[in-house]
Amino acid sequence: MRFSPAFLDELRSRLRTSEILGKHMNVIAGGRGEFKALCPFHQEKTPSFTISDDKGFYHCFGCGKHGDIITFLIEKNGLSFSEAVTELAKEAGMPLPVVSEQDRVQFQKTSSIHQTLERATQWFEAQLQTEQAKAARDYLAGRGITEETIKHFRLGFAPDGRDAMIQALTARNITLQQLNEAGLVSIIENKSPYDRFRGRIIFPIMDGRGQVIAFGGRIMGDGQPKYLNSPETDVFKKGSVLYAWNWARERAFQKGNIVAVEGYMDVIALHKVGITNAVAPLGTAITEAHIQQLWKVANEPVICMDGDAAGLRAMKRAAELYLPLLKPGYSLKFAFLPAGQDPDDVIKNYGAKGMREILSNAKTLSQVIWDLELSEMKPTTPEQKAALESKLMKLSESIKDKTIRDHYRSFFNNQLWEIKRSTPAKKDTKPWDKKRVTHIEHVFLKPDDPRGRYACILVKLALNHPYLLKEPDIEEAFAHLETPAEIRPLHDALLDAAAELENPTADEIKERIPASASETLVKNPALKTYAKPEITPAIAKAEWDYISSSYNLLLLDEEYKEAAENSASNATEENWEHVRALQKQIEQLKAVVQKHRMHHELLSE
Ligand code: UTP
Ligand code: MN
Repeated sequence: MRFSPAFLDELRSRLRTSEILGKHMNVIAGGRGEFKALCPFHQEKTPSFTISDDKGFYHCFGCGKHGDIITFLIEKNGLSFSEAVTELAKEAGMPLPVVSEQDRVQFQKTSSIHQTLERATQWFEAQLQTEQAKAARDYLAGRGITEETIKHFRLGFAPDGRDAMIQALTARNITLQQLNEAGLVSIIENKSPYDRFRGRIIFPIMDGRGQVIAFGGRIMGDGQPKYLNSPETDVFKKGSVLYAWNWARERAFQKGNIVAVEGYMDVIALHKVGITNAVAPLGTAITEAHIQQLWKVANEPVICMDGDAAGLRAMKRAAELYLPLLKPGYSLKFAFLPAGQDPDDVIKNYGAKGMREILSNAKTLSQVIWDLELSEMKPTTPEQKAALESKLMKLSESIKDKTIRDHYRSFFNNQLWEIKRSTPAKKDTKPWDKKRVTHIEHVFLKPDDPRGRYACILVKLALNHPYLLKEPDIEEAFAHLETPAEIRPLHDALLDAAAELENPTADEIKERIPASASETLVKNPALKTYAKPEITPAIAKAEWDYISSSYNLLLLDEEYKEAAENSASNATEENWEHVRALQKQIEQLKAVVQKHRMHHELLSE
């Protein structure tokens, strides 16, 4: 029997090499989709047989045997090629292709579509360089997209004619029918066919091998729809494609980590700043097929979601939907973006660093479910607590894998226990009041991230007591302060305002800075007792000293640990001198903090 390359590719991509081989031998996980085993093809005592799930092959460094799941069944179990494929197809739940005249025709059709799409890509790319594409080039440049990026992502331009592409490609021996099968033309009865993509910037969408399978076309500026995508064709099934998979998979596999964002532009912005393990679905939610694909390269893919209310609701639905899929070693993480900003905006506003910070603060699926449940209902009565418990247990029930199900149950039980323990709590001291801050603050100002929190207090002090910044020492320290990305624009605005105003007052400052910019700080319950507007200048100054010393103490502590370690392994006079100097500074700072602490505690009552 003959199988098409597409069928075999699909078969290989649906199965994990380690799982198939694991049915016939013992394999030892080596992390990130790499496995080891005693070679089944020769005698050995230590494992030199390696399996890579990402690459989809095995290799023995001892005897040199090398192959994929199909050759394994042939060589190890002595099956014929078609027997091996038949067995694997059953395993993958794929109906066997009936190789008929019809299939042969189908195969020819898909290769023809691939060819047509490639020719179209080249044409779109060329159009972007023409005179009439100036506005398109300007648009891209305005969004920070360089020549290099254009080339890498093969961005193009569809001119705003009626049938420019049809004319150009049919002149090159591509038939109208081929263009139609590739999803490139619109045909309406009694009218001559016209180009599907007109007056749009073209984003080619590739499969894992880098073959173009579809296009997304963005309108320049406003207009509807913002993106027009190819219709589904024989080579394009929207729900299972991840944009940029072809560029991201290798890097993702190396890092053992992959990030899913929402849009083409987000992916491009991330890749541009070196975060090249990023992909995006095509304007749909992340499907089960997507998750399975992400799991091929990473154990805990990070799903990046908009942090606004709609995004959170979507995330809640998604989290519950993904629960049943979990299997040992494979989970998901969620990164929360500041409300109303996509990764492209975040990079623009806070740089790659801000984006990396958000990604590295991604929360586990269990934590996300817990937080989202609690954000809806803060249980106070025993009935509410019981309702929450039963909801969480029901959710856990949906997990198919027993080990993970048990893990989730005990995680939720622990969290519930924390709540139950807090019997008729005193005001403001329920555990969720301390723990729950908005999602944005979760990202940056976790209560267990004291440095970010101190920085926020200092910014809040400057906001409510801007005259402090007129002290040269304070102004300088404030300018060098490292702040969480979320409040960096506010931090910058405060510096500007203070520099421009002679005697800045809180009211003048607030007039210059939109309330929305300071909302995070002002509303953050964790900062409530600090930097109140009503304290006197003397107290504000004392608070500044206290917090900035505490902040510096944290920095110095880190530096001290590093220096101490360094001098322990490399005991030069100079290194010890450094440690001693740090020690002295730390003592001084501790004295300052000590002096103010009592005072501060009295104030915050
Ligand atoms: P976004 O609206 O977030 O677009 O849609 P974006 O990628 O950030 O693009 P810019 O920054 O506005 O230029 C996210 C994704 O949803 C799909 C596209 O895949 C897009 O990248 N989408 C969006 C559509 O398919 N059609 C649309 O009309 C809008
Ligand atoms: Mn965007």
